[in-house]
Amino acid sequence: METLQEKEQSTAMPRIGDAAPEFKAVTTQGDIDFPEDYAGNWVILFSHPADFTPVCTSEFITFAHLEDKFNKANCKLVGLSIDGLYSHIAWLRTIKEKIEFNGMKNIDVKFPLIEDISMEIAKKYGMVQPNESKTQAVRAVFFIDPKGIIRAIIYYPLSLGRNFDEIYRALIAMQTADAFNVATPADWNPGDDVIVSPAGSCGVAKERMDSNNEDLDCKDWFFCTKKMDKATVLDKILKKQ
Ligand code: BEZ
Repeated sequence: METLQEKEQSTAMPRIGDAAPEFKAVTTQGDIDFPEDYAGNWVILFSHPADFTPVCTSEFITFAHLEDKFNKANCKLVGLSIDGLYSHIAWLRTIKEKIEFNGMKNIDVKFPLIEDISMEIAKKYGMVQPNESKTQAVRAVFFIDPKGIIRAIIYYPLSLGRNFDEIYRALIAMQTADAFNVATPADWNPGDDVIVSPAGSCGVAKERMDSNNEDLDCKDWFFCTKKMDKATVLDKILKKQ
């Protein structure tokens, strides 16, 4: 029977705004001390149910194909799959040698894949959701900022492969919010108008509606947007090379 401590561990769910739980792990790229080794970078920590499974394989190929794009946005990728190191190595070799997906082939996975056969790390991050599976991690995506704070979490069930455009969009949107002190509306992408923080007092609400500030487009006192062109956003966020 599960002890209370085991139950608490398996149901722990780090939340947005929490410090990313710390762990040391063995990975396909050597040992890591998380999140310490990634201080100053954004990190996407993502989990997979198991090695040698088809949906996971399609996702791994896609993430590896996009790794440079994420790195340019100051973001490192770290994967976790509930399997051992030698299985990970064999899976990544098979991916490179044999698997083509969506036109991507001969893919070298260069980011670390964490060994977590004991499920200790997966449980720490709430990646094992027992009503979905007691032995496999769901497809979790944790966005962790340069200070080690969890900024967004997306969960997918076992049967559903992730949407990588959305993962990248969310990363860029959060970086834009931080860099320009704005928010981003539904379906925002760089080049679209951004949202100016809502008026926090009656005075500011009145001022926004009365002023002729040409930079602001106020539909009403609480809903003001402003233009921000794509180059302004990307120049600030993406590394120059
Ligand atoms: C997959 O990655 O293909 C998969 C993993 C676990 C359950 C179902 C599908």
